[in-house]
Amino acid sequence: MAARAPFATGRARAPRRARGRSLLGEALAERLKAAALDVADDGIVISDATRPDAPIVYVSPSFERLVGYSAREILGTNCRMVQGPGTDLDTVRQIAIALSGGHVFQGEILNYRKDGTPFWNFLRIAPIRDETGKVTHYVGTQTDVTELHQARERQQELTTAVAHASRVRTVAALGASLAHEVNQPLAAVLANAEAALRLLESGKTGDVREALESIVADARRAGEIILRARRLVRNQPAQAEAVSPAQVASEVLAFVGTRVRHAGVKATLEGARSRACVRIDPVQLYQALLNLVVNAIEAMEAEPGHHPRGLAVRVEAIGERVRLRVADTGPGATDEDLARMFQTFHTTKSRGTGLGLLVTRSLVEAYGGRLEVARNAGRGLTFTIHLPGESR
Ligand SMILES: Cc1cc2nc3c(=O)[nH]c(=O)nc-3n(C[C@H](O)[C@H](O)[C@H](O)COP(=O)(O)O)c2cc1C
Ligand SMILES: Nc1ncnc2c1ncn2[C@@H]1O[C@H](COP(=O)(O)OP(=O)(O)OP(=O)(O)O)[C@@H](O)[C@H]1O
Ligand SMILES: [Mg+2]
Repeated sequence: MAARAPFATGRARAPRRARGRSLLGEALAERLKAAALDVADDGIVISDATRPDAPIVYVSPSFERLVGYSAREILGTNCRMVQGPGTDLDTVRQIAIALSGGHVFQGEILNYRKDGTPFWNFLRIAPIRDETGKVTHYVGTQTDVTELHQARERQQELTTAVAHASRVRTVAALGASLAHEVNQPLAAVLANAEAALRLLESGKTGDVREALESIVADARRAGEIILRARRLVRNQPAQAEAVSPAQVASEVLAFVGTRVRHAGVKATLEGARSRACVRIDPVQLYQALLNLVVNAIEAMEAEPGHHPRGLAVRVEAIGERVRLRVADTGPGATDEDLARMFQTFHTTKSRGTGLGLLVTRSLVEAYGGRLEVARNAGRGLTFTIHLPGESR
């Protein structure tokens, strides 16, 4: 019984002749093939799968150029010679698994040239089988994608920097109300401390405990407000973890509490007890929601006239997904406004940067989610963050 053919046709078949793909005579075809391999930018390596540790039996000139080793130095060795200290072991393991299963491997791996310089290698390894379906060789093609990688990293850094700048601007915009927010517990601390002193002087030491407990609670509150602001301003790498959107939503509303009161906005949170959970960097979810909430407040504040100002935040789990909605009763938007809103630097505010919605959207999309906006039936807009949920 013959071994299984590559595509499991049941019966082993002789491989199709390459002749069918060429109109050239054999000698010319050979010459052109050699020339093609010579000019190709991608490296090509063939190794013998039937011998222990699959030694290399062919390298193209382009591979020699890519890695800086001569064919003489490479032939007979294993390709892992181009791996080094920064090579991801997980990727190496994936290659080994693919090869032992007779599958194609395709992926990026950090490799090193003879002179030690690293480069990102977009590597593809495919098995070649004989007529019985047995793997006899592997063909590897290598493409230097270092520049692409660097461009991607720069893009990533830029996105992080923009997100950070946008956070700093949001905190700055809340600056006055944050100072006010911190001032309140500080004033309470002072009043209670003075009361405690008076109690001590008058010998009523029994009541001092209560005053001291209030002091502790208020000092803690002030500390938390500052901690939250610092968390937003600090530039730290994103780290995803299991996060409760309900908790983030209630913290965001607490953070803008003073601002909301000053603007005469009635804020509500629905689904505060929701047990929904998402995998995300908590600071980034905080930022995304804060952007939408601050936008809603600013939109209502900027509107002339005396419309009732309402801000409704709602957290809900819909099947596998989690939805966070921010609805306002502000001026809303025309179709044109809606089209412009997500454009870079588009703002209608004297101090706006026009990055908030863009950053919010990219943060949400980075976690497999999406951001939607719709006009309300009554006044205002509703922004919705959709995120994949995570079971606890
Ligand atoms: C034809 C062929 C080409 C390969 N080319 C590369 C390469 O360019 N860079 C690399 O890091 N690994 C390459 N490998 C993978 C390594 O040779 C080796 O299979 C891998 O490190 C996993 O095996 P190991 O765990 O025994 O090291 C190639 C493998 C084959 C079969
Ligand atoms: N809830 C809303 N109601 C009406 N218009 C809105 C609302 N949210 C955003 N907009 C409009 O979209 C524009 C862009 O918002 P975005 O958050 O991207 O930037 P910004 O708030 O102007 O500045 P910043 O970068 O500081 O957030 C706003 O200037 C505003 O005109
Ligand atoms: Mg904004």
